[in-house]
Amino acid sequence: TTRIPLIAGNWKMNLDHLQAVAFVQKLHWTLKDAKHEEGSVEVAVFPPFTDIRSVQTLIDADKIPFALGAQDLSAHDSGAYTGEVSGAFLSKLDVGYVIIGHSERREYHAETDEVVASKVSAALKHGIVPVICVGETAEDLEKHGASAVPAGQLEAALDGVSADADIVVAYEPVWAIGSGQAATPQQAQDVCAVLREVVAKALGADAAARTRILYGGSVKAANIAGFMREPDVDGALVGGASLVVDDFAAIIRFQK
Ligand code: G3H
Repeated sequence: TTRIPLIAGNWKMNLDHLQAVAFVQKLHWTLKDAKHEEGSVEVAVFPPFTDIRSVQTLIDADKIPFALGAQDLSAHDSGAYTGEVSGAFLSKLDVGYVIIGHSERREYHAETDEVVASKVSAALKHGIVPVICVGETAEDLEKHGASAVPAGQLEAALDGVSADADIVVAYEPVWAIGSGQAATPQQAQDVCAVLREVVAKALGADAAARTRILYGGSVKAANIAGFMREPDVDGALVGGASLVVDDFAAIIRFQK
C-alpha cells in the first residue's frame, strides 16, 4: 500500500473569512509558481467555521486542489444544541476532513474519550474523514512514557468504527504543540508505529496499512524532512507554520 502523504494546516482561531480567501489564493499561486507537482502530496486546510463557505466557493471556482476540513463537529445531527455545527451541514459544504479530539478541545472543552468516539462516528456517518488527534502531556510522558496515553486515546476513539472506515490519525505530543520544541523524528516514529499497531488491532491489517498517521507539534519547513523520512509518519498536522504562506508552501513542497 502506498499512502499519499497528507499535509494538514490547522489554522485554529486565526484568519477571518476575508483573510482566509486571500491566504488560500496566495498559497495556490505560490505552489503553482514553484511548479509543485500535484498528486504527490495531499494538502488540506482547516479554517474556522465562519470561513468554510468562502473557502469552499474559492476552491470550487478556481479549481484549487486543496481539501477542506473543519476543526470540530457536533456529535449530533441537528436539534437543540446551541452553538454546535453538524456533520450534515459540513458535508454539504464539501468538507472532507474534520479534526476530532485536538488537545485544545480536550483541555479547554473537557472533551473526553467518549465524546471523541461519538464525534468520530458522527463524522463517518456523514462521509467526513475524522482526523483523530491523540498525544501525551509532559506529565504523561514522565509517568507513563510516550506511547501509553496516545495509544489508549486512539483505542477509545476507534471503539465502534468499522474495518473499512477511512480515518486519519494525528500524533501530537501536547508538550510539542506551539512550543517550538518538536519531537525528534525518532520519537515521532516510535509512537506512530505503536499507533499503527492499535489501528491493526482495532480495524485489521488492511486498515493499518492504508491509514495515514500524521505527526503534529512545532512542525516547520526546517524539520519536516526528518519526519517524512520515517516509515510510519505519513504527513503532518501543522499549526503555526500553516498560517504563513511561504512556510506552509515549503512544508508542502517537501516530498517523501
Ligand atoms: O493542530 C496543530 C497542532 O496543534 C500543532 O500546532 O504547529 O503550532 O505546534 P503547532
